[in-house]
Amino acid sequence: MDKRDGLAKIHDKWKKDCVCELKKTATQAVPGDGSPEARIVFIGEAPGRSEDEQGRPFVGAAGKFLEEMLSAIGMKRADVYITNIVKYRPPNNRDPLQDEKDACRLWLLEELNAISPELIIFLGRHAMNNFFPSEKISKAHGKLLIKEFNDVPTKFFFALYHPAAALYDGSMRETLMADFKKIPKVLEEIAKRKREEKPAKTLFDLS
Ligand code: URA
Repeated sequence: MDKRDGLAKIHDKWKKDCVCELKKTATQAVPGDGSPEARIVFIGEAPGRSEDEQGRPFVGAAGKFLEEMLSAIGMKRADVYITNIVKYRPPNNRDPLQDEKDACRLWLLEELNAISPELIIFLGRHAMNNFFPSEKISKAHGKLLIKEFNDVPTKFFFALYHPAAALYDGSMRETLMADFKKIPKVLEEIAKRKREEKPAKTLFDLS
């Protein structure tokens, strides 16, 4: 089974089996979307009104801004994979509750493992705190975070302010843009670290 079919199966299964209470009020599930071969997965918080209507993540104003930032580093939406920690819209876009995050966690982990990206980028503090509960976004944004989890397919993470929060705040918007432009360097740093992790000594039998 190729990655695209694998992801489709994961989404079909969890649309039926997910026990998130938000299912009762949302129009539909909003699974992740993008390239199954992506090197980067972006994780946001939860769908908003447009996402709930269309069944796709980041299709409203925040999504348009995300696409603009991707284009500033020479990437397109189709090159990456975009998802959320919670797959159903919370009423009136309130913050998702811990139970709702927990109910959607295995869905998120399965999609991450199906893609196996090199880098996971958190869009906002909710996404970051789902994996790094004690980090503060004001301190961690724009920095490479490295941690091994036994159920997550990469140990490399990068945190950004949420595009919806930065959209109408000039200074946060500038910081987000500057952090976003570090992404190519972050990928280079990951490649370098992976090269250096190779066994320092390789034996060549020359006899
Ligand atoms: N904000 C999010 O966190 N996710 C979306 O899908 C849209 C807006």
